[in-house]
Amino acid sequence: MSETVLVTGGAGYIGSHTAMALITAGHKVVVVDNFVNAKPDALSVVAELTGVEIPIIDGDARDVELLTSVIEDHGVTAVIHMAALKAVGESVEMPLEYYGNNLETAIATLQAMRDAGIYKFVFSSSATVYGDPESCPIPEDASIGATNPYGMTKEMIEVIIRDLAASDDRWKVTALRYFNPVGAHESGKISEAPLGKPNNLMPMIMEVATGKREKVMVFGDDWPTADGTGVRDYIHIMDLVEGHVAALEHLDVQEGYEVYNLGQGEGVSVLELIRGVEEATGMQIPYEVTGRRAGDIAECVADPSKANSVLGWKTTRDIAQACRDAWNSQ
Ligand code: NAD
Ligand code: WQD
Repeated sequence: MSETVLVTGGAGYIGSHTAMALITAGHKVVVVDNFVNAKPDALSVVAELTGVEIPIIDGDARDVELLTSVIEDHGVTAVIHMAALKAVGESVEMPLEYYGNNLETAIATLQAMRDAGIYKFVFSSSATVYGDPESCPIPEDASIGATNPYGMTKEMIEVIIRDLAASDDRWKVTALRYFNPVGAHESGKISEAPLGKPNNLMPMIMEVATGKREKVMVFGDDWPTADGTGVRDYIHIMDLVEGHVAALEHLDVQEGYEVYNLGQGEGVSVLELIRGVEEATGMQIPYEVTGRRAGDIAECVADPSKANSVLGWKTTRDIAQACRDAWNSQ
């Protein structure tokens, strides 16, 4: 069934790519974003690429009345909730802003949905809820325990939507635990363009490749991994957003609350990712090994088999393509 999907935070990196995937799959998209970490151009590019105008409401996802009227005015039938602050380090320094923004946007969005009488909800959670995992690959039923305020907001919202689904069987709610999204749409026209200094590895490597920064600082080469640098599960952004389309469409047959890992299922080290970008660009990426970053972990790799079997979703793009597409978008 074709849905009209409100994407909160839809002007951001994942939101703009999600809009692309939803429209490509035949759904309609409406965005509410306050542009605290985005610029409107990403969505103009999506409109240009798809030939479909996307209504964009410049507003705060903590505003229940605004959200209710957006849902009613646009005939919204489902919500993908992405509006959040997402920098782990900043969340340690500004916990009130993170708990305030991330919990309030989620609760306000759910209240607006209930007020408007719609019950299909997909939530942007994160592998960060697993904290320092006991072993990899990580299945959804592994123990969880976020180690920073940002991650705690994701963990708390998962509990809220689980309890909500248990309270009223009209709710169909899914939490998607993303591993490390990288890359860009194949057109190269939508990119990850964080405002300010990048926190994540791929945008940092891109800034070195484009000459904005001299070198990548590699946070430790003494981790218990094959080459001593941190290992993560980097997933191509288009694979990730196609996982959202699959999760949304699966709500038609879903009962209550479900959680899925969205990851590639393969570990890649910091040095391997740098090498991947070197191959994609034909350039040498200078780097320097420095101390470990506070709060980092050695390894975080998904077991994506639940999403593979239940949602019928699989990644189809490898890390080499993610590096090429990330570079192409620059
Ligand atoms: P992003 O910062 O690019 O997008 C988030 C968007 O939310 C931004 O456009 C921002 O302006 C908007 N926003 C924030 N607070 C808002 C508010 N109160 N009202 C309206 N809009 C608001 O980040 P992203 O990487 O696209 O992440 C999207 C979602 O996925 C977030 O919930 C994030 O926590 C989650 N996530 C991201 C990653 C990642 O590595 N990028 C990994 C796991 C989970
Ligand atoms: C990846 C690897 C670093 C930058 C974070 C959040 C997580 C999720 C994704 C939202 C690690 C190393 C990094 C650099 C480096 N976001 N690194 N030099 O830490 O896996 O996850 O983003 O939910 O919640 O915690 O991603 O890209 O920051 O780091 O050496 O300049 O790269 O130590 O091993 P991370 P990342």
